[in-house]
Amino acid sequence: MSGFEPKIVVFACNWCSYAGIDLAGTSRIEYPPNVSVVRVMCSSRVTPEMVLKALQRGADGVLITGCHPGDCHYITGNYNTLRRYYLLKRILNELGLGERVHLEWISASEGERFAKVAHEFVERIRKLGPLRIEEV
Ligand code: FES
Repeated sequence: MSGFEPKIVVFACNWCSYAGIDLAGTSRIEYPPNVSVVRVMCSSRVTPEMVLKALQRGADGVLITGCHPGDCHYITGNYNTLRRYYLLKRILNELGLGERVHLEWISASEGERFAKVAHEFVERIRKLGPLRIEEV
């Protein structure tokens, strides 16, 4: 799959993950240009429909990011995210798409960690190859 550059949609909560990604940028920490960041107020705002729509509309992978457990600005939002993520993964695994969606907690101070997670996820999707729409 030489030359394949995956398109990755990153959903990032406003209060932690987006700030962490912003920190990576302002600190000049290099992360893959493959990622397109979509800011949401809380990771719990990311519905299964949003993930599936991203895949349907051309993303090869989706990374959902949010505050670490206990740090959500809306107290229990990320616990809801985790529950929903496990349910979504079961469905995606049935469709053979489970590897293309990943959840990660990124705090506002973890710019470097975001870069590492983004590099690893891009590499994982690169190995899987492009998502063909008939897979969804
Ligand atoms: Fe970050 Fe809820 S505000 S996960």
